[in-house]
Amino acid sequence: MKARNTYEQSLMRKSGVIAAKALKKAVEAIKVGVAELEIDEIARKEIIKLGGDLSYKTVPGYKYATCITVNEQVVHGIPTNRKFESGDLVSVDLAVVYKGWHTDCAWSILVSEQGIGDWGQLKKTKFLKIGEAALWDGIEQAVDGNRVGDISSAIQEKIEGSGYSVVRSLVGHGVGRSLHEDPEIPGFGKAGSGLSLKSGMGLAIEVIYTVGSPDVILDSDGWTFSSSDKSWGGLFEMTVIVGRKEVEVLTDWRKA
Ligand code: MF3
Ligand code: CO
Repeated sequence: MKARNTYEQSLMRKSGVIAAKALKKAVEAIKVGVAELEIDEIARKEIIKLGGDLSYKTVPGYKYATCITVNEQVVHGIPTNRKFESGDLVSVDLAVVYKGWHTDCAWSILVSEQGIGDWGQLKKTKFLKIGEAALWDGIEQAVDGNRVGDISSAIQEKIEGSGYSVVRSLVGHGVGRSLHEDPEIPGFGKAGSGLSLKSGMGLAIEVIYTVGSPDVILDSDGWTFSSSDKSWGGLFEMTVIVGRKEVEVLTDWRKA
């Protein structure tokens, strides 16, 4: 993984703004009765409108703008006409390519009809809070001189320290000229180990976790991974540029 020069970084930044705006539209449209394919369409339209293209088209055999997963599904869900129900835990994952530069991001939310706040929902809210916190803990480590293992162990500590599991077989990754580049960035590992980070590197940091078993199984559709024990899965991902002192987050949809 090469550090990107200032010009390359500026293109990644633009790619990230498009991804963040599309993720914002998608996340905000997730409501009871809305279908996964409608969310995919909203994201696709926004990406194209803003001058980007679908990065997932570069994955052989995949034609959607997003991956959408619900409840026990963890990653790589193909958008279908399934409609969201109150209490569903939904994750949207999307990536953009702009002038040849890729950015990748994902977020998870709880579909909830106003006024509902039973115990089951509170548990899901806590699960999501911890996943998001783990993402920011990992991101914070993406500074010059730190190592990949510092990101990994920060994520692992938060997730496992809260009693949840980090999925082992799916990892974050370098990103830039292509969607998936070196290095792999697991959500588990030893602080101080692994590749040394240099400012200018583009990383897709991902928190892929479950309430129960860390094992995932591939569904019969050939794409979707679900938790082996059917426990809830969550997914939080941002593309960042490693900084000298501070990391730059390119895909923060809440600021888009
Ligand atoms: N964002 C996903 C990841 O980094 C990529 C999904 S590729 C697809 O793992 F083909 F499944 F869409
Ligand atoms: Co990714």
